[in-house]
Amino acid sequence: MTMCVRRVCLAGLALASVMPAAGADLSPIQSGLDYHSFANVDQFRATHLELDLRVDLDDKNISGTVFLDLKRLDPRATQLILDTKNLMIYGVSQKATDVLGATAKSQTVWVSRPFHLDKPDPILGSALVIDLPPTRKTVESIRIDYETVAPANDAAGGGALQWLGAKQTAGRHRPFMYSQSEPIGARTWIPLQDTPQVRVTYKALIRTPSDVMAVMSAENDPKAKRNGEYSFSMPQAIPSYLIALAVGDLQFKETGPRTGVYAEKSLVKAAAKEFADTESMIAVSEKLFGPYRWTRYDILVLPPSFPEGGMENPRLSFVTPTLIAGDKSLVSVIAHELAHSWSGNLVNNATWRDLWLNEGFTDYLESRIMTAVYGSERASMEAVLGLQALRAELAKLDPRDQVLAIDLRDRDPSLVFSSVPYEKGRLFLSYLEAKFGRDRFDAFLRGYFDHFAFQSITTEQFNQYLGEHLLDQFPGIVSSAQVLAWENAPGIPADAVVPVSSAFQPVDDARTAWLAGKLQPKQFGLDWVTQQWLYFLNNMPTTLSAEQLARLDQAYDFTKSQNAEIEHSWLKLVIANNYQPSYARLEEYLKIIGRRKLITPLYADLMKTPSGSVFAKRVYAKARPGYHPETATAIDAIVNPVAAEDIE
Ligand code: BES
Ligand code: ZN
Repeated sequence: MTMCVRRVCLAGLALASVMPAAGADLSPIQSGLDYHSFANVDQFRATHLELDLRVDLDDKNISGTVFLDLKRLDPRATQLILDTKNLMIYGVSQKATDVLGATAKSQTVWVSRPFHLDKPDPILGSALVIDLPPTRKTVESIRIDYETVAPANDAAGGGALQWLGAKQTAGRHRPFMYSQSEPIGARTWIPLQDTPQVRVTYKALIRTPSDVMAVMSAENDPKAKRNGEYSFSMPQAIPSYLIALAVGDLQFKETGPRTGVYAEKSLVKAAAKEFADTESMIAVSEKLFGPYRWTRYDILVLPPSFPEGGMENPRLSFVTPTLIAGDKSLVSVIAHELAHSWSGNLVNNATWRDLWLNEGFTDYLESRIMTAVYGSERASMEAVLGLQALRAELAKLDPRDQVLAIDLRDRDPSLVFSSVPYEKGRLFLSYLEAKFGRDRFDAFLRGYFDHFAFQSITTEQFNQYLGEHLLDQFPGIVSSAQVLAWENAPGIPADAVVPVSSAFQPVDDARTAWLAGKLQPKQFGLDWVTQQWLYFLNNMPTTLSAEQLARLDQAYDFTKSQNAEIEHSWLKLVIANNYQPSYARLEEYLKIIGRRKLITPLYADLMKTPSGSVFAKRVYAKARPGYHPETATAIDAIVNPVAAEDIE
């Protein structure tokens, strides 16, 4: 595979899936340098973009124009380099100075400019190189006419967009499309500087068939007339990975004065009920972290193939329908995506190495919101489950990938993500909170969000701020060496403050008694909440008999559970013990759900045995066309590693 970083390409024998984790490149990593973008951000910086796009749901493509406003930082620069992947570029032009003179009626003249696309890198795509004459002008306006050409759902090379046929939607009568741009997918539908360290405001005109509705991570008008033309404006500057679009047969239901849900008709009522506490979550967040600066907070419920639990697209979080359990038991994902309105959307990672600044902070904020709205017992249970997931993952991860500030050079950031930036990040912030005390830490957090509002920062910038505003303010509590160990050493530091939950004690007791034959199903668990069931299932011994599983299933109906997380934990046990009666459900689950966190571990477990891998391959062949390209790329590497390498 050929690896290119900053347009320097090295042909090598290494394949992504077998490469030694990080550190293949032994040169010291440069803080703040985005190894996953070709953009020459030291010479030009985009400030605003305007999209005029047609979404063709039948041909499964987007075509149109992007107008980019850029600050020119270097008068001598002769080239503007943008990121693209699987785009056809029809023309590039530059806005000329008003040829009619300043007094004439403003008339825009576009002068076409020479451009070329560099040879594509399998992960990063193709640099779009545009020749521009050097000038002392400090602003540039560029117009690019283009079209997406990624073959629908082809996993080779991934892509942000998923195009769903009508049959893959809940209503089954209109097609659907949506984007998932984080981390480096925006370049697959917009040519731009696709790096989290550049923030832009944007406007968009989206043209669709007239019987569907378009929504974006921007100001959305719930009452917009369905006429096939939708206008959007995002007045706050955001990084490219937060530009998002979805088109489908959507309905809207209000849940509060500044909150609501968009979903297909058959889901909108249940979604509004499930997410009814969103306003309370915003209210407690504002008390803790400062004002909510994005005006509205709406939630878009996507079809079940959506690859994430949730995605924090500003003003409009995108979420999986698997959150709708009927009892609000999985709404911590909403708390999480909302928390990103501070940690992430307001202050975000400058490069993907710094992702923990988004996700670790957000997991910590999520816990604080869950505690305030649902009580500390619920939040502690969720934190313990998170810690258990982290420990299980650390046991398998290369030590170099166990660090918060991770070296992702030469790797696809969307394939490397683990619970480390999330759970270890949360532990780090909980540690700081415990050491300095909640009041001091809360004041620090508010100051941090204010200080860096609407900026992208590196781990090192965070460290500097932390040093000045916490460590040095209250000396002798935490040293900078300890901070660096959290960020750069593998594993969990010995003095971590780990969460505990007394609500799990009865669960441990019941499990032990049941395994010893001293307790029968139905004699326990009747008042357990979802998190207790997850803990019960996740901590079973590796081997159970078919009879034991049958008894449990008979009593608690796990195979028919409507809770996607409980079902996931049950199916892990099913696979570990080759419990055939639940395999039909397993197949159905893998075919309907595309959320990576829920299905990747199931495929990985299946692949551990010969019969499991036959099953996995058979089911995957049927399920793959329904997955988002990023999910397919991830599962290809598990189920079909050799074929996945061949594609590259
Ligand atoms: N921003 C992430 C999703 C993401 C991260 C996509 C990195 C691509 C690259 C989102 O906020 C997230 O963390 N989602 C989690 C939610 C969970 C931790 C509560 C998910 O989807 O499972
Ligand atoms: Zn997140």
